[in-house]
Amino acid sequence: MNQDRPAWLHGASAECDVLPKPPAVITRLVLLGPPGVGKGTQAALLHDRLGACHLSTGDVFRNAGSRPDGGQTPAIREALAYMRRGELVPDATVLETVRERRACLHCRGGFILDGFPRTVVQAESLQRLLDQERLQLTAVINYDLPEAAIVERLAGRRTCSQCKAVYHLTERPPELAGRCDLCQGALFQREDDEPESIRVRLETYKQSTAPLIDFYRKLNLLILVPASGTADEIYVRTMSALSVRPLRS
Ligand code: AP5
Repeated sequence: MNQDRPAWLHGASAECDVLPKPPAVITRLVLLGPPGVGKGTQAALLHDRLGACHLSTGDVFRNAGSRPDGGQTPAIREALAYMRRGELVPDATVLETVRERRACLHCRGGFILDGFPRTVVQAESLQRLLDQERLQLTAVINYDLPEAAIVERLAGRRTCSQCKAVYHLTERPPELAGRCDLCQGALFQREDDEPESIRVRLETYKQSTAPLIDFYRKLNLLILVPASGTADEIYVRTMSALSVRPLRS
């Protein structure tokens, strides 16, 4: 299924194709979990099944960063410097980026937020934004995996430069080495998958993002899903956890 998301990646001036037929149930999810646990991979699978749009804040910044240098705003250049070091982009920049794209929260198929929120300040802002837009989250899924397995996943990750599809050198290799199966774009290794950036990202996750597990538990939205096994196994686990939850639209 098409994962282009122009309105999310490029901002409100870009338009997405309208889904010919909205899904029977609209699903609005937040995916939580450490870097490299497989959120993006699961978001793509969930998008295919649920028709909900994959809204990744990391993809927005990387997409803006792939423009020629002159086309980058000072805020984007600053955001990319934080990302290279493995640190979080400041809340103000992230929140502005999401607010500019608030129309995407009304996507006909719902949405899957991946990488946002990442701090308590961001989570509180998201709650306010959803209230203003009269929308409710269906659930927040927290993926969990031992750190050694996470480092292994990040070190082997390759991403499509065009459609952002995610592969792994050994676990999810493309059919043709270095080329995306979906659009034949060139695959690249993310700058923040260097060992020092990975260490900083894991530490930052523990300090700033892990507290969101409690935040969403208190809102009775949290679903815990072990992220060991193949992507398909985790996907089945996720769908089964969602199916026993009453869906709200
Ligand atoms: P972001 O792009 O959000 O990255 P992340 O959260 O660090 O997560 P990743 O994309 O690294 O991993 P993932 O969990 O999606 O795993 P994936 O599916 O790719 O953020 C990057 C940076 O942007 C941040 O560090 C920050 O600087 C900035 N940023 C973004 N949002 C922000 C915000 N809200 N606030 C502040 N700063 C923000 O899988 C990883 C690998 O494992 C892949 O190779 C995949 O093929 C493989 N894999 C997946 N599943 C499996 C499996 N089951 N078995 C084996 N291999 C698997």
